[in-house]
Amino acid sequence: MQENMDRLQLQLKEDIDRAQDFQQLDNIRVRYLGKKGDITLLMRNMNQLSPEQRPVFGKRLNELKNTAETMLEQRKKELYGELSVKRWESERVDVTLPGKPFNPGRKHLITVVLQEIEEIFTCMGFKIAEGPEVELDYYNFEALNMPKDHPARDMQDSFYINREILLRTHTSPVEVRTMQAQAPELPVRIISPGKVYRRDDDITHSPMFHQVEGLVVDKGITLADLKGTLLLFAREMFGKDRDIRLRPSFFPFTEPSAEVDISCIACDGKGCRICGGTGWLEILGSGMTHPRVLEISGYNPEEVTGYAFGMGVERIAMLKYGIDDIRLFYTNDLRMLSQY
Ligand code: DAH
Repeated sequence: MQENMDRLQLQLKEDIDRAQDFQQLDNIRVRYLGKKGDITLLMRNMNQLSPEQRPVFGKRLNELKNTAETMLEQRKKELYGELSVKRWESERVDVTLPGKPFNPGRKHLITVVLQEIEEIFTCMGFKIAEGPEVELDYYNFEALNMPKDHPARDMQDSFYINREILLRTHTSPVEVRTMQAQAPELPVRIISPGKVYRRDDDITHSPMFHQVEGLVVDKGITLADLKGTLLLFAREMFGKDRDIRLRPSFFPFTEPSAEVDISCIACDGKGCRICGGTGWLEILGSGMTHPRVLEISGYNPEEVTGYAFGMGVERIAMLKYGIDDIRLFYTNDLRMLSQY
């Protein structure tokens, strides 16, 4: 028994010295001191000893157990004392260094302006409608009263995918899609925000840009409704002193058609460099929905009338924030984007 214990203590010391980490030390603890550990078993077998031997071996065994616990602790300190010094060296922080700047994400300026436009119109009772960016020639042109030889259909201006399919060049096709889905129910009162695509690229044109389309169809809708709605929009967007004017124009899908100007936000209409001396800034195209478009879309032009408008979001943003190059929106320069 005495021999047994001496051998055990030697073995234990060897094992502990060899251990390299916490896990190995814990395995050793279990092997010697666990429920079925060597030392534990010896203690359990004490009842086989004679009454004279028992106290002697009991004392020795207790010592062995305490030694085992002390050695384990000691080794742990050796290992982890050293390691934490190493770790501290490698993770040392120089608290005198200046902090690293933290750049939180933010909404893109176009998203901000788009959401502002949506808010103004939804507050007036408009619903939001969406349509596909990959569009049929039929919806993009044909149903909008643009005959086959219309210049806007030129391959030079549009991104065609094949003869029938293209990237939409404007959001107006959503007008027809919405009416067809809803007819004959009244009223139709939607805006349709989204991306559009044209083969254009200069300081005021980008091959992808955003538009917001508007459409109202009901009994007795007039040009006065269009003008009132757009006046309210202009004042919400550009300030309560804005005026608007409707300038006669032409679009195949509206009759009559008008381009809408706001009084210049820089000079209030006096005439300056921004408005080219005219006192006015063009912000959108509009008109009374062409009877043919109503008919194609499932409404009777004898019974209902409608107005529509379409605006470029980048143009609105450029005017509102005094940005003179549309490409600044899409070159992803944070020095530009983080200003707004
Ligand atoms: N779709 C036209 C364009 O992209 C803009 C437009 C003009 C939309 C008149 C309309 C409208 O709804 O009535 O240039």
